Amino acid sequence: MQIIRTIEEMQRLARGLGRKGTVGLVPTMGALHEGHLSLVRRARSECDAVVATIFVNPLQFGANEDLDKYPRTFESDCEQLEREQVDLLFAPAPEEMYRSGATTIVDVGAIGTRLDGASRPGHFVGVATVVAKLFHIAMPDRAYFGQKDAAQLAVIRQMARDLNFPLEVVACPIVRDEDGLALSSRNRYLSREARGAALILPRTLVALAEKIRGGIRDSGVLKDSQMRLLEGARDFELDYLAIVDPDTLLPVAEALPGTLIAIAGTVGGTRLIDNFIVG
Ligand code: PAJ
Repeated sequence: MQIIRTIEEMQRLARGLGRKGTVGLVPTMGALHEGHLSLVRRARSECDAVVATIFVNPLQFGANEDLDKYPRTFESDCEQLEREQVDLLFAPAPEEMYRSGATTIVDVGAIGTRLDGASRPGHFVGVATVVAKLFHIAMPDRAYFGQKDAAQLAVIRQMARDLNFPLEVVACPIVRDEDGLALSSRNRYLSREARGAALILPRTLVALAEKIRGGIRDSGVLKDSQMRLLEGARDFELDYLAIVDPDTLLPVAEALPGTLIAIAGTVGGTRLIDNFIVG
């Protein structure tokens, strides 16, 4: 696996790969876990060449967020990507990605202000901008993203469609720990107690899925059934429980097949998200 630090070299190599076959792109912020690796494996199985990226994107972090303490484990990330037979790893410095004087941003509009975009103003402008840049830099035929970040996925699909990127956005299923907690680079912030408290996210989703299977469809009724538990939970602060259309992120009256049910909250100072699509 070759590690590339500059945009110019990455574009040169990407053009070469693109002439030979299909290119799959897996953008990450590093601190890799099995969730990230599932994207890499999917790309490996579907594309001739796989490009992974590691870049902790300052533009998508708010002023009071965890940019400085975001876990950075570059050495072991490289070993894992090497094992998964990634061809190229693009890992630029912040000054390389955002040259001095750069002013252009990508704003997807209202969809970027919903769910996590409501609680993290500007977050999805940062995500859309860096992903658009990565698309121009790696020129992939397919780009792989996790369903875990459902709102991010909707924003990226919108951006790719609106800006006519000639590529397919591929969504990959959520990878979970044995106890049901969705894997996240931020899970390593959790104390043992906080990790226990965090299980309220997947458990709420499982409870809602059971209610839906039992025939309850009304979004208001479904949300009300969990609210008291969520609001009374110790060591947990609910951000949102949302029943929405997965493409627009707008609320829907009924949870029908394909509806996105998403939850976000803070446990011991760490913000976590989870979701499922109604089957
Ligand atoms: P990061 O949080 O590192 O995640 C990189 C990719 O891995 C995203 O597509 C995310 O949805 C996916 N992922 C994370 N946890 C997962 C899990 N448990 N199961 C399946 N997929 C999972 O998301 C970002 O980075 C950034 O916003 C990025 C898109 C790289 C732009 O900076």
